[in-house]
Amino acid sequence: MMTKQVSDLLKIQYPIIQAPMAWLTDAKLVAAVGEAGGLGILGPNAGQDELTSDPVETAERMRQEIIKVRQLTDRPFGVMVATPRPGERIADNVFTREMLKMLFEAQVHYFAVVGSVNAELFDLIKAHHGLIIYRALTPTVADAKQAESLGADLIVATGRDEGGLLPAREYGTFTVVPAIVDAVSVPVLAAGGVNDRRGVKAAFALGAQGVYVGTRFMVTRESPLAKSAKQLIVDSTYDQVAEVSLDQRSITTKLARQFAQAFQQPSRRMNMDSKINQAGGLRPAMRLGNLDEGIVEVNTGIDTIHDVPTVAELVERLMTD
Ligand SMILES: Cc1cc2nc3c(=O)[nH]c(=O)nc-3n(C[C@H](O)[C@H](O)[C@H](O)COP(=O)(O)O)c2cc1C
Repeated sequence: MMTKQVSDLLKIQYPIIQAPMAWLTDAKLVAAVGEAGGLGILGPNAGQDELTSDPVETAERMRQEIIKVRQLTDRPFGVMVATPRPGERIADNVFTREMLKMLFEAQVHYFAVVGSVNAELFDLIKAHHGLIIYRALTPTVADAKQAESLGADLIVATGRDEGGLLPAREYGTFTVVPAIVDAVSVPVLAAGGVNDRRGVKAAFALGAQGVYVGTRFMVTRESPLAKSAKQLIVDSTYDQVAEVSLDQRSITTKLARQFAQAFQQPSRRMNMDSKINQAGGLRPAMRLGNLDEGIVEVNTGIDTIHDVPTVAELVERLMTD
């Protein structure tokens, strides 16, 4: 059932991609995934524990992280790029512009493009001979088809089971994956709730040719997720998870409980994301380990996460019988 199309395309051993996660996917994790035979992807604020609002500095920090990956491994890896807002030109988005300039100079080849389909961005990456792994935040058949026609090499179908910013529709992994598989002819990667070997097999049974895994990779030895947050995930079940905004869920830390209560009030529903941002987003609890002061975002499958293996152990477990 597991075909070689994705691993051949990406020049890796197993069709498993470690999904980019803000603050939590640094050079050490990405290199470990590469060494284990998968593809690691650097995400926003990779390797950092403090934010900078400067676009040039943001790109420079990512450049340093890319150098670190290359010191640790000669295996392939990718970098996440957020698409400009619909209608916005790349030249007008200073963060995207600076990041792309650096990534092309650094000769990065694999781009996890996340957001709306953007012809200008796809063309630019293709002009630099880049490989595009496209992920819509809210997947639709129409977006997948358009991304394919613009040159996406792989398409990620994300179910609302996932951790991170949730798709805006009640579309679970079990239904979104076959819908996208039927709509495009490029290989599809299943994302959302793939935490063990059963999830990987289910993804392939649904027609996916690879898996795109976030939450499970956070709970590995090499991941920069704070130790206390790793332990909290191991110790928690889905009964301790609550929605804290329209598109975020968290284990019920002290702060997450307050957010979850506020989110229940109709007048507060819409603006919870800005409240979460003001509190520092994922950084306080997940990066710094101050569990009471932040949220811990996870997928719906944490009942099956029981330990903190090395990346190599995890990849072996997920990809082999
Ligand atoms: C804590 C956390 C942070 C995330 N941050 C990002 C991000 O910054 N950019 C992005 O494209 N996706 C982000 N994601 C989504 C992942 O890239 C991926 O789509 C998702 O984790 C897959 O589902 P899973 O968590 O069930 O494996 C994040 C996910 C998690 C759990």
